[in-house]
Amino acid sequence: MKVLVATEKPFAAVAIDGIRKEIEGAGHELVLLEKYTEKAQLLDAVKDVNAMIIRSDKVDAEVLDAAKELKVVVRAGAGFDNIDLAAATAHNVVAENTPGQNSNAVAELVFGMMVYAVRNMFNGKAGTELMGKKLGILAFGNVGRNVARIAKGFGMDVYAYDAYCPADVIEAAGVHAVANQDALFEQCDVVSLHIPATAETKESINYALVNKMKKGGVLVNTARKEVINEPELVKLMTEREDLKFVTDIKPDADADFAKFEGRYFATPKKMGAQTAEANINAGIAAAKQINAYFATGDTKFQVNK
Ligand code: 3PG
Repeated sequence: MKVLVATEKPFAAVAIDGIRKEIEGAGHELVLLEKYTEKAQLLDAVKDVNAMIIRSDKVDAEVLDAAKELKVVVRAGAGFDNIDLAAATAHNVVAENTPGQNSNAVAELVFGMMVYAVRNMFNGKAGTELMGKKLGILAFGNVGRNVARIAKGFGMDVYAYDAYCPADVIEAAGVHAVANQDALFEQCDVVSLHIPATAETKESINYALVNKMKKGGVLVNTARKEVINEPELVKLMTEREDLKFVTDIKPDADADFAKFEGRYFATPKKMGAQTAEANINAGIAAAKQINAYFATGDTKFQVNK
């Protein structure tokens, strides 16, 4: 079988070595399309491949139409909102993700961004510390749980809300479970977003919700930009000069946020999962899932069923 790694933002070389070992070790062929800049390059590369490993690369109906031999596409990562799942199903393509493989990398970045925010983006003026502050984790999945673990090392008081995770599971992890999203924003000094982008969560981080934060509140987003209602957050930050917003996903309204100098920061390119370890974990997991699919028809991580 021919397996394509198509990554606009490439994996670390050491991860490619690991992926190659897995794919070629199972008797398949590996081809690479890294750092591509045009969709046409992707459309050309997918023509004769049987499987694909991608990151945030968009796999839409046009890509699936061009990939006539494609059987399985694995998103090496957690969020699979970049794959048109209905189109994949219509093309009889199995779509999978590799949950949990890059979550520590994202969680560590949360703290890099948090420290950067509370230390006034290193401008030389006295900032604040994280110890003793209340951290609110919105969604207690793989990333949220790692954030909670690290927050305890910082001496933070950790709270979480997850619409799909029972309070006793959150409490068992040594984290205060709050009753709802509003309460999390009301009670916490820093809120870190870990919700997926779904019809339910899109633009759910809005004016009314963020306005519940105490004076000096910090909002950290390492999830998807789609969960933020950007015009409403711009309006709120214009009215409330105490709020800070740091994000690993450049908003569409980046130019509007940029005017909040010293209160806003966006990474130039999404960096959460961009570590050698996360690339190795997610990339090799993806390769193993593809091998398992071709060997036994295994679809344990399928997300379009
Ligand atoms: C994920 O959903 O796993 C992360 O957002 C990582 O995305 P990336 O592979 O594009 O860095």
